[in-house]
Amino acid sequence: MDVVKIGLLGLGNVGSGVWKILNDNSDEIATKVGARLEIARVLVHNPDKQRRVSVPRGVLTTDAEGVVSDPDIPIIVEAIGCPGQDTTLARDYMLSALRAGKHVITANKEVLARHGRELRSAVTDGGGLYYEGAVAGGIPVVKVFKEALAGNRVLSIMGIINGTTNYILTRMSQEGSDFEEVLRMAQALGYAEQDPASDVDGHDAAYKLALLASIAFGHDIQVEDVFREGISRIKLEDLCYAAELGYAVKLLAIARRDGDSVELAVHPTMIPHGHPLASVGGAFNAVFIRGDAVGDLMLYGMGAGMMPTGSAVAADCIDAAHNLIRRVSPPREVRSNHVRVKPMDEMESRYYVRVLVVDRPGVMAAIASEFGRAQVSIESLIQKGRGQDPVSVVFVTHRACERHMQDALRGIRALDVVHSIASVIRVEAD
Ligand code: HSE
Repeated sequence: MDVVKIGLLGLGNVGSGVWKILNDNSDEIATKVGARLEIARVLVHNPDKQRRVSVPRGVLTTDAEGVVSDPDIPIIVEAIGCPGQDTTLARDYMLSALRAGKHVITANKEVLARHGRELRSAVTDGGGLYYEGAVAGGIPVVKVFKEALAGNRVLSIMGIINGTTNYILTRMSQEGSDFEEVLRMAQALGYAEQDPASDVDGHDAAYKLALLASIAFGHDIQVEDVFREGISRIKLEDLCYAAELGYAVKLLAIARRDGDSVELAVHPTMIPHGHPLASVGGAFNAVFIRGDAVGDLMLYGMGAGMMPTGSAVAADCIDAAHNLIRRVSPPREVRSNHVRVKPMDEMESRYYVRVLVVDRPGVMAAIASEFGRAQVSIESLIQKGRGQDPVSVVFVTHRACERHMQDALRGIRALDVVHSIASVIRVEAD
């Protein structure tokens, strides 16, 4: 049987998963491909380090150039990540390999988001760029957009595509704990990074959404186009009110067509308990897609981790080997640059607003009057406490434009009976 050699750059979480899968399942994979996939070289920083997988010493190397430019290695898997937040090394290795006509696989969303156009244009005939693992880890969402839904006009995507934040929000609502307490617990258990900003502030989800929306809508969407708000201001009290009103709170990544524009946003969102995304708990990810032909569709699974992400990368290795044997490239990705990204202040939503106020007659009326002045219509309101100072009052609005809502919030904040606006959460209708 023929052997297809693979060069693996990096043996961290993702690299170890790929090594394990391609070795543990090598017979089945060889039968499917019609050739044996062999990881011939593995680039590491320190060959003496203890690892989760056992790789023969002779396979390990510290010579990146030797792997990338080896003519006997037609498939390169980039799994070095972004050491020190720097994408340059990964980009440079990938560019050299692509220019040498190789098939290059990555699960590195930052590299793709920052250098995607340059990388795509470096693909030569006979080579290819694959990145199933870059969005939602083990969930095969990239292929679904590129292949299974290719006949659709994708209308919208709503995703829970960050496991850390979903884990935190799930535990807060299940255990009645505050954000800081759950975050500390998640860090102690290794579910959250010691520097959690990339996850809790929504950066990770914004990178993934930019990639997904680019594939789904066929436009070159940059991470800067995505409006972003994280979960660190969500209080347990908000989750309790949300539950009472019939909603779960999730960090949603949303991409939607609206005429010739696209809306792109990552923010905490209240979704009705009956929506399939509301039951996605813990560290799981899910992507809810609406296509003009297929209707509604949801993909669910583990969005990160050694084996789930390894599964996506291994599938790309198999795809690349198939293409190599048939001497074809994967279909080229055509992207138009001409899309209008809707500015946030034009977007519309329903809103949940919790205001901390002095509890005395006329306060509700004063706040309601600010909403009215700004053309925001109130759907319902709740006040529970009595006599505390301050007390929470909660408003849920009808659909309103963000610009009008910000105008209303400015007016409310300036009222002398208002201590502060504790939370504003967008509400997705069913
Ligand atoms: N940190 C991410 C998450 C996984 O929590 O989902 C890597 O993108």
